[in-house]
Amino acid sequence: MGEHPKYRTEPQVSSKSPAPTSRSYSPSDRRDTNGVDLPLPPPSHPPTTVLELDQKTPDAHVPRDPRLIRLTGAHPFNAEAPLTALLRAGFLTPPELFFVRNHGPVPRVPDAQIPDWEFTVEGLVDNPLRLTLRGLVAEYEQQTYPVTLVCAGNRRKEQNAVRKTNGFSWGPAGKRARYVCMEGADALPNGHYGTCVKLNWVMDPNRGIMLAHRMNGEPLEPDHGRPLRVVVPGQIGGRSVKWLKRLVLTEAPSDNWYHIFDNRVLPTMVSPDVAANDPKWWTDERYAIYDLSPNSAIACPAHGETLGLVGGTQAYRAKGYAYSGGGRRITRVELSLDQGGTWRLAGIDCVEDRYRKADTTLYGGKVDFQWREASFCWCFWELDILVQDMLGAKDLLVRCMDESMCVQPRDLYWNVLGMMNNPWFRVAIRKEGDLIRFEHPTQPALMPGGWMERVNKAGGNLTNGFWGEPNAGEEEARQVKRVVKRIPMKKEGLDRTISIGELRKHEGRESPWFVLQGEVYDGTRFLEEHPGGAQSIVGAAAADATDEFMAIHSETAKAMMPIYHVGTLDATGRKALSTSGVQREQGRGREVFLQPRMWSTARLHAKKKVSWDTRIFTYKLEHDEQVLGLHPGQHLLLRLRDPVTREAIVRAYTPVSETDKKGYVDVLIKVYFGSQTRKGGTMSVAMDSLPLGHEVDVKGPIGKFEYHGRGEYSLNGTKKTVKSFMMICGGSGVTPIYQVFRAVMRDPHDPTTCIVLDGNRLEEDVLCREDLDALVSEGQGKGKLIYTLTKGGEKWKGLRGRITRELIEGQCSCRPETVVLVCGPEGMVESIGVSLNESGWRNEQIVYF
Ligand code: MTE
Repeated sequence: MGEHPKYRTEPQVSSKSPAPTSRSYSPSDRRDTNGVDLPLPPPSHPPTTVLELDQKTPDAHVPRDPRLIRLTGAHPFNAEAPLTALLRAGFLTPPELFFVRNHGPVPRVPDAQIPDWEFTVEGLVDNPLRLTLRGLVAEYEQQTYPVTLVCAGNRRKEQNAVRKTNGFSWGPAGKRARYVCMEGADALPNGHYGTCVKLNWVMDPNRGIMLAHRMNGEPLEPDHGRPLRVVVPGQIGGRSVKWLKRLVLTEAPSDNWYHIFDNRVLPTMVSPDVAANDPKWWTDERYAIYDLSPNSAIACPAHGETLGLVGGTQAYRAKGYAYSGGGRRITRVELSLDQGGTWRLAGIDCVEDRYRKADTTLYGGKVDFQWREASFCWCFWELDILVQDMLGAKDLLVRCMDESMCVQPRDLYWNVLGMMNNPWFRVAIRKEGDLIRFEHPTQPALMPGGWMERVNKAGGNLTNGFWGEPNAGEEEARQVKRVVKRIPMKKEGLDRTISIGELRKHEGRESPWFVLQGEVYDGTRFLEEHPGGAQSIVGAAAADATDEFMAIHSETAKAMMPIYHVGTLDATGRKALSTSGVQREQGRGREVFLQPRMWSTARLHAKKKVSWDTRIFTYKLEHDEQVLGLHPGQHLLLRLRDPVTREAIVRAYTPVSETDKKGYVDVLIKVYFGSQTRKGGTMSVAMDSLPLGHEVDVKGPIGKFEYHGRGEYSLNGTKKTVKSFMMICGGSGVTPIYQVFRAVMRDPHDPTTCIVLDGNRLEEDVLCREDLDALVSEGQGKGKLIYTLTKGGEKWKGLRGRITRELIEGQCSCRPETVVLVCGPEGMVESIGVSLNESGWRNEQIVYF
C-alpha cells in the first residue's frame, strides 16, 4: 500500500517515544462470509462502575470509561477518546471509547421499561403513529450497517455498526412536508434537544436515516441514546437525535432552539456581535450544516512521539484516517513534507467496502450493502516515509479529496461557532538534538501542548499563511516584534515532584496549595496581602487555577510566583485535575448560587444596550428563589469558551443588580470592539456574541473588600469601620463603586457619607449615571457625585479634565476615618495612587479594586 514497500520496516524509535502501534487497524474479530474478511467490532469492555466524578451529577446512573477525555468539565458529559486509542481500536469503535456529545443529563430508562419505550410519528403524515420499541423490532425488518458518526465541532471521529429498522413507513407524506423534525427525551434548559433533516434525504434509498437500538450488536449505552436513537449516515452527529421521542414532518425546518443556535457555519464576515444581534443569521437554513465535509488527520506519528535521527533507508509508516460527507467516497489522501509544494499519494483502505461484498446477517439484521454506492464510514490511510526526508522537513501535512473532487482547504474558514474545521492537518516536526519530535496542533480538553498553543504563546499569527511559524525575511522580523514577554513563574533549580495525594492535603485554609500550568504553589504566605482576597486563594486550593490566574493577573503578579513555587505536579495528578478542576456542582436546590470552588452555570436571559458599546447582561440563576451570594464590593468570575479556539476565557466582573436579587444577576459589560488596527476584547466580544439562552460558567465570590453596611467592612477578612468613603472611578470601574454606594444610600440607618469622583472621556461614557443620580436623592444628603470629562462636548456643564490631585484635595481632605475606594483603567488608577499619596493618604486607607 505504501509508496516505498521496500522500506516497510517498523520505524526506528527512541526510547522516549510511545511504543509504535504494532496492531494496525485490522480488528481481531472477523467473520468470513462469501470469502469476505468482514471486520467485526473488537471485544468490548462495557464499564460497570459510576465514576466518582459523575456521582454528584444527574448522570449518577451512567457507568463510563475513565479513558474518555472530558471536554467541558464533569457535566454535561462531552468526551472523546485519545486519538491513538481510537485508531488502535480499529474500524469499529467499542461503545465505551465512542465520543459523547450530550447537551444535558442522560435520561434514565430502567431496563424493564425499554421494550415499552414510546415514540411518535406525527405532523404532515396521513397516518400518525405511536410505536413502542418492542413493536419497532417485531414489525419492521432489521438491518445492520457500518456508519461513522462525527460531530460538526470536532476533528475526532468514531464509527459503529448499528442494527436498524428498514422500510419504516412514513405513510404517503403530506405534499407540503419537506423536513423530518426529531426530538429527544433529554430535558435541557431550552426545551428538549431537537433538530431536523430534509425529507428528501430521508426518502433517498442511497442515503436514508436509521432508527437504531443497537450499536456493535449490543443494546445502546445510556450515553448514546439508550434505548432508541436516530442515525443519519453521512451527516454531522448533531442531526442524529438520541433518546428519540418524536418524529414530526413539517413544511419548515425545525424551530427547536438547539437546531437554530447550534451546528451552523455562518459566513466568515459575520462577527460574533453581528450574529448575536441579528437573528436572521441563525434562522437562514442555508447556513445549517447537514453533510460532513472532507476531513483527515494524522494519528501516527502521535503527539509527542520522537524519532531517532537514524536517516539512511529507514522508513516511518505514517497513518491516519479520512472521511467525507453525504455518502461521498474519499478518492485520495495526500501528504506533503514541503508545506504543500509537492504531495505524495497515500494508500487508502476503505474497510467499509468489505461489507458491500458480504451477503449475510449480522446481529439479527441483514447487511444490506451490496447494492449501495454511498460511503458512510471513515477510511484509513498510510504512507511509508523515509526518515531522512522527515529530517529536512518542518512539518507533515495531510489532505484528502472526495469523489466530488472537493479537497480540504489549506486555511481554516473562520466562523462564529468554529464548526466544520477541516484545513490540512499539520504535524510540526521539531528537532531536539539527536531526535525529532512530532507536535500535533492541539491536545484535547485542558491538556496543554500542541503547536497552535506554542505559536500563540510566542505571539505568532496562526493565520499568517505559514501556521504562525516564522517564514524567512519580513515575516520573521514581524514575528520578533510580536513576541509576548514570557515571565518565568518557576523557582530556578527546584526539582520536586508532587503527587495528587500530597496536593490534596493542602485543600484547607491553613496552607492552601494551588496549581498553575502543572506547577504547584503555596499560597499560605500570601493569604493576608492578596489583592483578590484570601477567599480567592482558598477557593483555588488543591485545584488548577491556571485559567483564572492567567486571565486576571498582571505581569508583576506573575513575576512574584517563583517565591511561592513548591514543585511540579506529576502526570497522574495533572490528569486528575484536568477534569476535577472544572467540575460543576448541580445546584437546583441550593439557596445560594455562587460557590468559591466550583463553577456553576447561568444562562443568558436578556441583554440591554445601555450605550453603543455597553450592555447589561442578565443571567438566569438555577432557580427563581436562588440568591447570588455576593456582598457589595465583591466580584465574580465569568468563564466562556472562545467561539473559535475553544480556549477558556475568564474575567472578573462586579454585578450591578441588588445583592439580594433572586433568580437573576445583572452584569454591566463594556464591549471592546476590534478594528482594522486594534484587536477587540476577547471576553467582551465573545460575551456580546452569545445568543440568549446560552450558558456561561460563574464562580466566586472573589475580592478582598466587602461592605457589610452601617460603616462596617472587611478587608482581607479583617473587620473594620469607616465614617466616610471617597470613591474614585472611571469607565466600567464604576461597578464595584456603584454597589457600595448603593448599599450606603439605600439604608436610612447607615450614617456613612460618600463622595464619588467619576472621570470619563465623553458624556456617553459615564455609566450608570441615572442610577447614581437617583441614589444621591435617596441618600438624603449623605452622598455627593462629581463627574469630570476629558472630552466633554459643548453642552457639558460639569467639570472638565482628569481626576487630579487638586480635584481630590478640593473635594475631600485627608482624614483617618475615611477610606478611599479606587477602580478604573490601569493608567488612571496608577496616577490616582500617586496623587493620593502626595495628598497624604496612607496606603492602608486606599482599596484598589
Ligand atoms: N440527541 C439528544 N437528544 N441530545 C443531545 O445532546 N447531541 C447531538 C446528537 N444527538 C444530542 C443528541 C450531537 S451534537 C452529537 S455530535 C451526537 O448526538 C453525538 O452522539 P454520541 O454522543 O452518541 O456520540
